[in-house]
Amino acid sequence: MAKYTIVALPGDGIGSIVLEQAVKVLYAAGFDAEYKYGDIGWEFWCSEGNPLPQRTLDLIDKYKVVLFGAITSKPKEEARAELAKALQGKGLSYSSPIVGLRQHFNLDICVRPCKSYKGNPLNFIRRGKGSDIEEPPVDVVIFRQNTEGLYSGVEWTDPPDNVYQALSSHPKFAANFGTVPRNELSISTRIFTRKATERIINAAFGHARKYNYKSVTLCEKPNVIRETSGLMWKLAKEIQKNSYPDVELWNTNIDAQMMWLTKNPEDYGVIVAGNMFGDIVSDAFAGLIGGLGFACSAQYSSAGVAVFEPTHGSAPKYAGYEIPIVNPIAMIESACMMLDFLGERDKSKRIRIAVASVIEEGRVRTYDMMKMHGSRDVIKLGAASTTQMTEAIIEKII
Ligand code: NAI
Ligand code: MG
Repeated sequence: MAKYTIVALPGDGIGSIVLEQAVKVLYAAGFDAEYKYGDIGWEFWCSEGNPLPQRTLDLIDKYKVVLFGAITSKPKEEARAELAKALQGKGLSYSSPIVGLRQHFNLDICVRPCKSYKGNPLNFIRRGKGSDIEEPPVDVVIFRQNTEGLYSGVEWTDPPDNVYQALSSHPKFAANFGTVPRNELSISTRIFTRKATERIINAAFGHARKYNYKSVTLCEKPNVIRETSGLMWKLAKEIQKNSYPDVELWNTNIDAQMMWLTKNPEDYGVIVAGNMFGDIVSDAFAGLIGGLGFACSAQYSSAGVAVFEPTHGSAPKYAGYEIPIVNPIAMIESACMMLDFLGERDKSKRIRIAVASVIEEGRVRTYDMMKMHGSRDVIKLGAASTTQMTEAIIEKII
């Protein structure tokens, strides 16, 4: 019997392609696992009216650790139109299964490391003094609250009586929006709870201490979003003072952070933010280390469920290629985060060294690393295919 059982959720588009590469690399590193494949994604929405079937939830409940590729989401109307004929008109409505997974298992902690690899032609560079060109090393880990805030789905258009009254009895709302007809109002709420906010802040500080990052930066907007960002800033100060006085706490506003990260990205270590700002700041940092082909992530619940996935989506335009061209590194890095979680640090370290060595050597590069536009022609033009990249990495594992 294998030492571990991993739930593998390929999902849609390039999800299944990159997941397969990660499984090959894990095997090559000697990871002893059995994979239970689960159903998720567009196909199951179309055929069953549910992109996240109960049987998949049961599988995750049982085995806890998940490697996930990517799914396709489409807007409301398109989703309804693609539903199987027999399911149409039954009032089914599509919602993203990855958001569903996060909420069902309360995967409230999302971790997104962005570390530049030496020799990656996509690394951020800037002008230094005079005409010098500098390539600052980026090593940032973003802790994003993953279940609350603006993405928690508490929203209305044409709000019901109780919501409308709660708002219109507020002096500021009444002054600013009180004369707007109710059916012209759209409201998306941003709700933070103390418990989840404390958990993400503690996780960020814990990581900073464990891996010797000198600072945790809270990236919110407490001067304007006084209640939710304000709560997070207040709790961050308390937690730092009481439990992590050895780690510095910095505070940047999300808008200023978007500017600072292209000026001095090397100054930042761990960043902590609410759901939407965490999403934004992690994509921005990913851009400095090579983009979506390099952006990995992990999501954890307090009950031991953990989901590891690349940040990118299903890139449907590249899904049908006979020779796949997408970069598997984000998925392989996500698998390394899974190995770390399982305590298999020797294996993750060996894989990361192999990835670093392929990148530094520069012989094998997928189209994104060659700064090409994705198309079937990239292979002819000298880009490595997805599987060639995987094989090059496997060859370097010692
Ligand atoms: P995407 O991440 O799928 O692709 C955006 C672009 O990034 C691609 O066209 C490609 O140029 C590049 N790219 C993505 N992955 C790459 C890789 N491994 N190697 C090289 N280049 C890569 O985002 P897009 O196009 O906005 O969305 C496509 C679908 O994916 C949508 O249906 C969206 O809802 C879904 N999506 C799913 C996510 C998930 O499963 N967690 C996350 C983001 C989007
Ligand atoms: Mg995102």
